[in-house]
Amino acid sequence: MVKLSPSILACDFLNIEKEVKAMQDAQVDYIHFDIMDGHFVPNITFGTKFVKSVKKITKIPFDVHLMIHRPERYIDEFAEAGADIITFHSETTHFPIRLTEQIKKKKCLAGISINPGTSLHQIMDILNYVDLILLMSVEPGFHGQAFIENCYDKLKTLKEIITQKGVKTLIEIDGGVSRENHAKLIKNGADILVIGADFYKQTNYKNYVNEIKNG
Ligand code: DX5
Ligand code: ZN
Repeated sequence: MVKLSPSILACDFLNIEKEVKAMQDAQVDYIHFDIMDGHFVPNITFGTKFVKSVKKITKIPFDVHLMIHRPERYIDEFAEAGADIITFHSETTHFPIRLTEQIKKKKCLAGISINPGTSLHQIMDILNYVDLILLMSVEPGFHGQAFIENCYDKLKTLKEIITQKGVKTLIEIDGGVSRENHAKLIKNGADILVIGADFYKQTNYKNYVNEIKNG
């Protein structure tokens, strides 16, 4: 069954504690943290202090998505703040294998992400080293953007390659995911769906989680 990772960036920041409790009651699988540095992407979000604070009020596993240059500088800090999965961008490093080793040393799952305009070729040689591949389905930087359609084919191709190679790498889709397109993404091979805007505009998170998970 597909897993759901709501992007906390899109929640009501004035009511974080209430939002986290509601996510917990709705039995989401992860909380997705979008870490942006105003450099790799044109937006700044939050850092380790925020992650650490949320960790104090929930046991939901944390899915940390680093949209920052030179991610090696912050991997240890985010792991210590409570990350369970740490994903960095292929576009931000020449040393992805070294980074995955750094993440695994901190006992986290290691993910690599590619932007909509980056080819799958960039990650072909490291499929065996990562636990997860995050395909961006919007240009990273903001929640609430429209889904970029080229992601369907990319997802399908990646799933076929993963199946052919017999590896266990998970595929996560991030950006513009909603109740309109989730079924097609699940059909094409998504294992984890990140949802921001569409999740937090719901009045009943539990019903929404059930709807998404049941395809
Ligand atoms: C975009 C972020 C996404 C985004 C998801 O840079 O990585 O996680 O916040 O939000 P929606 O679902 O609103 O596109
Ligand atoms: Zn994200």
